Amino acid sequence: MKLHFTDENLESIKHRCLVVFADRDGNVLNGGPAFAELLAPFVESGEFGRSFKDEIFLTEPKAVAAQRVLFFNVGKKIKGADDYRKSSARAWKSLRKKRIKDVLVSVAGLNEAETRAVAEGFFLGDYNFTELKTKKENLPVKLENLTFHGAGSHADAIARWQIACGGTNRARDLYQLPANILNPVTLSEKALAWGEEFGFKTTVMEEDEMRELGMGSLLSVSQGSVLPARMMIMEYEPENPSGKTFCFVGKAVTFDSGGLSLKPSAGMAEMKNDMGGGATVLGIMTCLKAMNCPHRVVGLVPSVENMPSGSATRPSDVVTSLSGKTVEINNTDAEGRLILIDALTYAERFKPDYVMDFATLTGACLVALGPKCMAVMGNHKPLVDAVLKASEETHELFWELPLIEEYEELLDSDVADISNISSTRWGGTITAGLFLKEFAGDYQWAHCDIAPAMFEKEADYHPVGGTGIGVRMTLSLLEKGV
Ligand code: BES
Ligand code: ZN
Ligand code: ZN
Repeated sequence: MKLHFTDENLESIKHRCLVVFADRDGNVLNGGPAFAELLAPFVESGEFGRSFKDEIFLTEPKAVAAQRVLFFNVGKKIKGADDYRKSSARAWKSLRKKRIKDVLVSVAGLNEAETRAVAEGFFLGDYNFTELKTKKENLPVKLENLTFHGAGSHADAIARWQIACGGTNRARDLYQLPANILNPVTLSEKALAWGEEFGFKTTVMEEDEMRELGMGSLLSVSQGSVLPARMMIMEYEPENPSGKTFCFVGKAVTFDSGGLSLKPSAGMAEMKNDMGGGATVLGIMTCLKAMNCPHRVVGLVPSVENMPSGSATRPSDVVTSLSGKTVEINNTDAEGRLILIDALTYAERFKPDYVMDFATLTGACLVALGPKCMAVMGNHKPLVDAVLKASEETHELFWELPLIEEYEELLDSDVADISNISSTRWGGTITAGLFLKEFAGDYQWAHCDIAPAMFEKEADYHPVGGTGIGVRMTLSLLEKGV
């Protein structure tokens, strides 16, 4: 998608198609009086507005130079930037059904957050996963040219967030790929290719090295699969370093059958998305150079397939993690935490200031917060607050959960240092967080449980199944600092 900017008089721009937002009372939000006049008769007749029709599409309107004008109804009132994000995504989805590929939109008078949101609606709404469709002729058209009117000093922000949405869309592609195509090996090949393309160094750790280092916890998860484990180590070095190092760790279980603690078949198919945390980290990495991120960033993505077999880990097995601590595996379906802890220990060698992990870790997170909100917890309040602030801005909702010390004893094991599951089913997201905390090194750490993101329904700028959640939030956090 190519971006263009213009400051000409909106009414006299001879463009193929202009999008104008208006509330249901006919108040035009991003266009002058000529547009309000064009819309007025439709508001009066009830065709636009209170009848809750979404739009009025005019062909060759007299008073203005644009060939087509789409008046898009934003509803009662725009309540915040995200309403712009939703509106532009929905307006675009309507235009693409008409096979229009060039769009003009005015952002004159909007503030930076609103301008960004209008742009993001187009960038994110244009996403479709078509890689596995062979009948290419029926696919939705792509937005080829997007022109912003009146962007002024926000033009740079638009261009930056096009990059961030590109990273989100790449993460979404990874979510969509099924586990017979995306596995630890093919994912690591992707990380190598993207490293070349987007300016970071990728090293792929194989099982022999994991064994030598002592990553017994990570290896215990992959040992039931015919596919080997991999760990992607991705390093981005800024040109003008801020002096801070961020490390992002992402759970990438390319399929989580539960292992011998086998999941019920209903819903098991969704577990192809259990690599969502890894997808988030890869998506972030692809944006850093283009966005000129000033911080050193290390991405760590441990990746395995969790399968039942004769060589699989048995409930009650005890393994030794990279930290040296022993773990009793009482449920092989609590595998995400087992791969994360070895990565969290490994992170220490990069001497990071901040470590954030992303993981589709617990079903309990959905029970606690529902399908639209993710959980964050950690050992450093300013980092957790930075997540909450950034998530508000990008509307990837997070809520802080407490790491309650009194719950630590729920993870006691009779035979090892710690058990991988709690002795109670209550508070499962918190006890998973407490398990990770036991292995977080001497750094400031936040854990993001993004399990709810696995169940995204198609809406506005979200595609079905896998939202690439966390990419924009983290890039925003990196921009502002902690
Ligand atoms: N990948 C799942 C978490 C999950 C479950 C995400 C449902 C989205 C929806 C994770 O590996 C898992 O199975 N967790 C168990 C932990 C339990 C055994 C302590 C869970 O949440 O049931
Ligand atoms: Zn599991
Ligand atoms: Zn899992």
